[in-house]
Amino acid sequence: MFFRSLVSVLAISATSFAAQLTQVSNYSGSAKAKPGMWTYVPDQVKSDALVVAIHSCQFSAQKYLQNSLILWKKGSDTKGYVTVWPSSTTECWDVSSKSSLSHNGGGDSNVIANMITYAIDKYQIDSKKVFVTGGSSGAMMSNVLIATYPELITAVSLYSGVPAGCFVSSSGASAAWNNTCSGGQSISTAQHWGDAVREIYPGYNGTRPRMHGSVDSTLSPKNYDETLKQWTNVFGNYRTDDFGPNVQGIWAHGVGHSVPSQLTVSQAWFGL
Ligand SMILES: *[C@@H]1O[C@H](CO)[C@@H](O)[C@H](O)[C@H]1NC(C)=O
Ligand SMILES: *[C@@H]1O[C@H](CO)[C@@H](O)[C@H](O)[C@H]1NC(C)=O
Ligand SMILES: *[C@@H]1O[C@H](CO)[C@@H](O)[C@H](O)[C@H]1NC(C)=O
Repeated sequence: MFFRSLVSVLAISATSFAAQLTQVSNYSGSAKAKPGMWTYVPDQVKSDALVVAIHSCQFSAQKYLQNSLILWKKGSDTKGYVTVWPSSTTECWDVSSKSSLSHNGGGDSNVIANMITYAIDKYQIDSKKVFVTGGSSGAMMSNVLIATYPELITAVSLYSGVPAGCFVSSSGASAAWNNTCSGGQSISTAQHWGDAVREIYPGYNGTRPRMHGSVDSTLSPKNYDETLKQWTNVFGNYRTDDFGPNVQGIWAHGVGHSVPSQLTVSQAWFGL
């Protein structure tokens, strides 16, 4: 009797972890680029949010999901949201060609946007809860994606990327490496980086995804500042550096020396 119930417990726990990474082959493929679409649907879907996890260079959807540092499968199992894992056909994502750096340009960004549209429909995702994350080349692609498809994405979380439009290829090559940018020598003004985003999708005037991100030392940490210049310019925001409860810095981009009182912010800091 005891043995029997133990067996049935084991059987239940075995089936309760049955979810697997599954390839979707018909996710809409009019774009020229053909990265693979893989989805992970947890056994118990408890959320109508979608997370798109974009791998780094030399990875694939499978390798990224299995990497012990990448916890989005665990997040999916515990919180019950669906995850999409795009898988590139090149060593790194194409963040250098005009086709990927344009809205509906037929490149990798277009293909990942098609995956998102497919997933929203197929898994009944709330289109206000579409989140994108990625590491290294995947973070570069996340940045390109929020520039090319701002209307599709709610928020993005980047791990070690570069600004959108920083990895351009002067020859127009796709998925090209760019030492100038990776080495932190593509330094420009907030206006320039903001223009790069606006040129990617000219005339776009809708809402844009919220973004946050971190940096490492492989892709030069200078890209942290360049990326922040880019998005604070696009949003027209002040830049706030948060160092915990006791120190906070605010960078007033493009504001004259007489900074207008930010009454709400200063009062909140005083606890008023
Ligand atoms: C695509 O494939 C999925 C499962 O593999 C299926 O449920 C869906 O109906 C297909 N869609 C089309 C448009 O064929
Ligand atoms: C690398 O990117 C920079 C902009 O970040 C660009 O000016 C330069 O031409 C690119 N290099 C090559 C070799 O394409
Ligand atoms: C925003 O863009 C849409 C579509 O191009 C256009 O119809 C609308 O007039 C624009 N709104 C503003 C405030 O520019």
